[in-house]
Amino acid sequence: MKENNNDENLAIIKFIKSVYQNYKFIPLHEPKFTGNEKKYLNECVDSTFVSSVGKFVDEFEKKIAKYTGAKYAVATTNGTSALHISLILADVNSDSEVITQPLTFVATCNAISYCNAKPVFIDIDKDTMGLSPSALEIFLKNNTKIKNKKCINIRTNKIIKACIPMHSYGHPCKIDKIKTICNKYNIFLIEDAAESLGSFYKNKHTGTFGQLGTLSFNGNKIITAGGGGCIITNDKSLAVKAKHLTTTAKIPHKWDFNHDMIGYNYRMPNLNAALLLAQLEKLNNFIKNKRKLASDYENFFKSIDYFFFKEPKYSRSNYWLNVILLKNKKQRDKFLDYTNKNGIMTRPAWQLMNKLKMFKDCYQSNLKNAKYLEVRIVNIPSSVKF
Ligand SMILES: Cc1ncc(COP(=O)(O)O)c(C=O)c1O
Repeated sequence: MKENNNDENLAIIKFIKSVYQNYKFIPLHEPKFTGNEKKYLNECVDSTFVSSVGKFVDEFEKKIAKYTGAKYAVATTNGTSALHISLILADVNSDSEVITQPLTFVATCNAISYCNAKPVFIDIDKDTMGLSPSALEIFLKNNTKIKNKKCINIRTNKIIKACIPMHSYGHPCKIDKIKTICNKYNIFLIEDAAESLGSFYKNKHTGTFGQLGTLSFNGNKIITAGGGGCIITNDKSLAVKAKHLTTTAKIPHKWDFNHDMIGYNYRMPNLNAALLLAQLEKLNNFIKNKRKLASDYENFFKSIDYFFFKEPKYSRSNYWLNVILLKNKKQRDKFLDYTNKNGIMTRPAWQLMNKLKMFKDCYQSNLKNAKYLEVRIVNIPSSVKF
């Protein structure tokens, strides 16, 4: 990682402009609708089943389950609602704490708050940007005891019910080790795989290691319907409960309206599922294309001695958003300023969650890696190119 000067900034701009030609302003990640999107949308509109009952939702759930290798999939309105329902299924409430990483999109922590629980922030690894299993183990060893098969935080007396690691920017974290630790401490594992559809760790799809995994199909994701999400799982009873909770807890019946608990209107509409089915048909193409782009970026940044973030060991990443690391915050800000002024959208990492005013009083472990990465990460344009 070296100091960036104007010559290098110019070379970077030239390179990115040669990758994405004919753009006035190069976006960070734009969707591509080049397949059956309009065809399926027309079919959906013609059927008049545009809301959450319809063949496209069922079909999409089958196909996304097959793609990820999960036994069951439950389509939701977005990734945040998928996280919210997953936390309810983990029985997270005001007596609970949920471990997560400080480097994530705010939705992860918002969902924890919707359950009136508190996040506990544990450091990430520098080589994955995801939750660090060693930091997790140290925290649990020093701060918890097991009582009645529950993991109790001895400082707060709250039950640590769940853990939500996130596969940052599409790069898998060390999820197998995290799973082993969660099992040992009786902690329910929910993977926030919002960014990692198409990313595998040790040949297994991200989101399928934990009891539950969540996906997002927001406008900037690798496949999108403008909005959408999904819960994936191998546990039939969790899948059944997830579907029930996301469909206002309505007891299925031809004409009767009866609900047996407080449910949520979180079911994905058929229109979104129609669009997503067409997007899913293109997913492997998108990934191939993005992996080629990542390899071109890697070679280019090597030639100017910049740090380009490569997929971690044992993983095959979707390279959703490409990442470079700048030397320090000053250099990062200079780079962000220069590129955005010159027609290229680049973006820093999210503010660490433990710094946001809603979460600043939550417990945080030593976050040295998160703090190191926060001021160095820059996302560079990563749209599929065709
Ligand atoms: C890590 C992460 N978690 C959760 C979400 C929430 O997904 P959605 O925007 O579909 O609610 C997103 C993206 O938006 C995300 O990047």
